[in-house]
Amino acid sequence: MDRQKTFKNIEPAILYFGTPVALISTVDENNLANIGPVSSVWALGRTLLIGLECGSKTYQNLIKQGECVVNIPAACLFDKVERIATLTGAQPIPDYKKTRYQYEPDKFRAGGFTKLPSDMVVPPRIGECSMHFEAVLRNKIVVEDDPVEQGPIAAVEVRVVKIHVDESLVIKDNHINPEKWEPLIYNFRHYFGLGKELGKTFKAEV
Ligand SMILES: Cc1cc2nc3c(=O)[nH]c(=O)nc-3n(C[C@H](O)[C@H](O)[C@H](O)COP(=O)(O)O)c2cc1C
Repeated sequence: MDRQKTFKNIEPAILYFGTPVALISTVDENNLANIGPVSSVWALGRTLLIGLECGSKTYQNLIKQGECVVNIPAACLFDKVERIATLTGAQPIPDYKKTRYQYEPDKFRAGGFTKLPSDMVVPPRIGECSMHFEAVLRNKIVVEDDPVEQGPIAAVEVRVVKIHVDESLVIKDNHINPEKWEPLIYNFRHYFGLGKELGKTFKAEV
């Protein structure tokens, strides 16, 4: 350690320490497609864990219909993501969101996103995103008593069944070129791209 740190105890509203943004596409019982921006998503093998408010349309659709596409936008799409940030497909809008969110049944139109058909699931893919993970619902853990959330939240486990990647990012047939891929990072409610590369892990194949 080159500097002796001193630490302060704080209670920030959120703990979003910088994770990539994903746009979750789902469909409702009338096959109407919705998009839910999230930053709480991570991968283990072909399993993704997605953190969702239970009051979101995304959660409701995913639990009822059982499928989603996890679409990964590049950093340059941040303004389109922000265009749908104050919208919800949920009606009625949950009380705690009423003052800051508006109901919007068509976020593809509102955000200027293009629907592409999926291969294995009903929800469409988002054409502007660089990667699409088609996925099916496996499990959920509902948390009712989080000290700062205003309603129940859930960790939703989905299994990826088909992967689509923008061809210009693919190298050596089956790898994503990390020098070309620029995820959109949600860093304490600010959008960032990546800084310069620092190195690679011993397992890196490209
Ligand atoms: C960049 C970004 C990241 C977000 N991350 C999450 C998240 O991880 N989980 C979540 O439930 N909501 C998250 N939200 C808020 C939801 O997108 C918001 O509640 C939205 O209204 C959900 O839409 P829906 O009700 O149509 O599903 C995020 C919003 C933005 C803009």
